[in-house]
Amino acid sequence: PQNVGILGIEMYLPKRCISETDLETYDGVSTGKYTIGLGQQYMAYIDDREDIISFALSAVSSLLKKYDVDPLNVGRIEVGTETLIDKSKAVKTHLMDLFADAGNTDIEGIDSKNACYGSTAALFNAVNWVESSSWDGRLAIVFCGDIAVYEEGAARAVGGAGACAMLIGPNAPLVLEPVHGTHMANTYDFYKPDLSSEYPYVDGKLSNVTYTGALDKCYATYRAKMNKRFPDEKVNMDGFDYAVFHSPYGKLVQKCHGRLLYHDWLADPSLPLYSGLTEEVTAPFKNAPVEKTITDKAVEKIFVGLGKKLYQERVHPTLKCSERCGNMYTGSLYGCLASLVGSIPGQQLEGKRISMFAYGAGCAASFFGLSVKGSTQKMFEVLDLEARLAAMEVRPCQEYVDAMNLREKTHTLKDYTPVGSVDDLFPGSYYLERVDDQYRRTYGVV
Ligand code: ACO
Repeated sequence: PQNVGILGIEMYLPKRCISETDLETYDGVSTGKYTIGLGQQYMAYIDDREDIISFALSAVSSLLKKYDVDPLNVGRIEVGTETLIDKSKAVKTHLMDLFADAGNTDIEGIDSKNACYGSTAALFNAVNWVESSSWDGRLAIVFCGDIAVYEEGAARAVGGAGACAMLIGPNAPLVLEPVHGTHMANTYDFYKPDLSSEYPYVDGKLSNVTYTGALDKCYATYRAKMNKRFPDEKVNMDGFDYAVFHSPYGKLVQKCHGRLLYHDWLADPSLPLYSGLTEEVTAPFKNAPVEKTITDKAVEKIFVGLGKKLYQERVHPTLKCSERCGNMYTGSLYGCLASLVGSIPGQQLEGKRISMFAYGAGCAASFFGLSVKGSTQKMFEVLDLEARLAAMEVRPCQEYVDAMNLREKTHTLKDYTPVGSVDDLFPGSYYLERVDDQYRRTYGVV
């Protein structure tokens, strides 16, 4: 099979969100702390009526419908999520309900977990399967998404919720390029050791440094591998038309786009973008080890500044979903990809190249490219993104806090019927109907 990649993409968007401006007032923090300091605009949330399984059923059923997929023609489903309900039973097993009527039980694939990276592991698995000798000619599906919630404190404003489902197969418009630059290490920046709570343990500053350090490593490895494979090509960000990042919050993405320019400057200071950089300006960090400049404010300021216009062109169109929904953990990177294909008409994207940076705390990260080898117009139309994001309702912060408190209280309950209203879901969404006295979950559709 040739040109294996993404044939279709669909988002699951919760119906409700809060404004980060309102949250600044509600929390009594300084004006601009969340909106300017962290670059946040809105954040989606849900109550006890939804869980990661209802997200998955909503996203995948909608993908099947909108792309008119024959359920018998699906041979693999990969799930990436870090929203765990069960230590053994995979979210994937619930998705088998969507294929039961057609009698298709021959579907490989299961859940992948490592913070926000599970989605990329899932995508690589699906693509590798289609490219492998065990491929049986059918399509694969990747589901990824999360309910990103933090306890009260500095991190709460960078939560969110949402999910993405993708159809994977040959002759795709969005083709995965073969070179990956990957960095994996053992870190404790963000983790969820307490299974009685939905909230992570997070060292925010360390998670930012680990994210940025992983980007450094992945990009260096990516370039080295590309140089080896294509010795005549110049490998830098000029080779990409769009840059998609795992997006925990807007400000980090902007800083990391600047960071890639810093690497390009280190590799080739003669590139036109850097012509204004004088010896005097760069002397303090020119010969500093890369890892020492991760928290260097001068480096950050210079390269974010130089990249301002490029950021608007290359990165801003990828942020539509994260600006409305906040962080979706595993769904974030692919929500950003959906934002791009959902905001630029198909003919304008054809022939372009997209860089992807996946990061999952703990940590696992990859930098890789996508080539747009066909029209993405169908994805643009099916996503109908602008209208769907606009249709999300902005609610008072107190409702969000009440929903968080309700989730906290009900997180581990059995013999339980959720109290959240199904009116707070868009039509066609799945919802949690009941958790019985054996913790078995059943779902309905709005
Ligand atoms: N107006 C404008 N800017 C402001 C204001 C204000 N009123 N108040 C603060 N700021 C700026 C600060 O100057 C700082 O700017 P800088 O980043 O340029 O230095 C920025 O806002 C952040 O403020 P801090 O006080 O440094 O940090 P804060 O306590 O708000 O915490 C953090 C931020 C660490 C990101 C926290 O939200 C967190 O722990 N988040 C969860 C972890 C996370 O998302 N990590 C990312 C990678 S891993 C993942 O995906 C989960």
